Amino acid sequence: MRIGILTSGGDCPGLNAVIRGAVMKGDRIYGHTFLGIRDGWAGLVEDDIRDLTRHDVRGLSRQGGTILGTSRTSPFEHGGAERVKEVMARHDMDAVIAIGGEGTLTVAKMLHEHGVKIIGVPKTIDNDLSATDYTFGFDTAVAIATESIDRLRTTGESHHRCMVVEVMGRHVGWIALHAGLASGAHAILIPEVHVGMDEIVGWVEMAQTRGRAPVVVVAEGFVPEGGTEAVALRGLDAFGRPRLGGIGDHLAVELQERTGIETRSTVLGHLQRGGVPTAFDRVLATRFGAAAVDAVKHSEWGTMVSLVGIDVSTVPLHRATRELKSVPPHRYEEASILFG
Ligand code: F6P
Repeated sequence: MRIGILTSGGDCPGLNAVIRGAVMKGDRIYGHTFLGIRDGWAGLVEDDIRDLTRHDVRGLSRQGGTILGTSRTSPFEHGGAERVKEVMARHDMDAVIAIGGEGTLTVAKMLHEHGVKIIGVPKTIDNDLSATDYTFGFDTAVAIATESIDRLRTTGESHHRCMVVEVMGRHVGWIALHAGLASGAHAILIPEVHVGMDEIVGWVEMAQTRGRAPVVVVAEGFVPEGGTEAVALRGLDAFGRPRLGGIGDHLAVELQERTGIETRSTVLGHLQRGGVPTAFDRVLATRFGAAAVDAVKHSEWGTMVSLVGIDVSTVPLHRATRELKSVPPHRYEEASILFG
């Protein structure tokens, strides 16, 4: 078969390892040939497609970013399924492996409903897809955030300051929860739990009273008690979703005013998506890539590869996009006994 591969949505450490895993297994075991689609769905509607060989994927599992490029383009705004089928036919492309997060997998599901042979691979640092235990990229983002918080702590301690650290995660708090726990933060604030300012101030003052420089980790999607929406100062993305960010600065100003402790805020931003993937993400991504070509082999169209426990299997795409995987209350309670 001739299989097209694309990476779409925000980039994420491990994308290249998926591409390598798919091409290596597909070439060696099934004798498939591969086509690299440039810049996500954009390449499929604009016909920006080239051969992707075993040579092209050599040494890729440790490389960050994506050799194929990515974008947040929806094909349904550029000719839809008919245009996709037309370009696929022009290249004798039998099937597409689409590597992406919630937005990408929703598009993949819609194209499948229009008869496109498609397999999804879940990607996102946010870890917010409910049909897989983990997405690759999350472990790397947590590792980067943890190291950054450790570094911010030493400067905070030197100056007796409170350090507020804003991490990504969109509308779920997985990165904040894990990086906050790993780095011993004095407060972790996530979108799933609407903590009030009085309680946050209490944790900060408690840490300072014990002679510590308070560290507050806040997820970009956090909404304080009484608030209605997450801070989003940069408009909407191509899928119509708000670009979140800015809550860390708001919190820092309010905490300094209310506690009198000099407070600084740092937004980790895209640092969390850059650079080499961790060993965990390389392994998961490679396994996902290999499993995606197995799914092609078995004509499991309209499915997504997924990690359940330690095994990789497939689930229907409509299950993958049905609901967000939020942090359950007991996971937050477990962490919150360490706050203050
Ligand atoms: O979904 C991954 C993610 O990094 C989110 O955590 C973040 O809100 C968003 O993408 C940022 O998007 P962009 O790269 O378009 O600014």
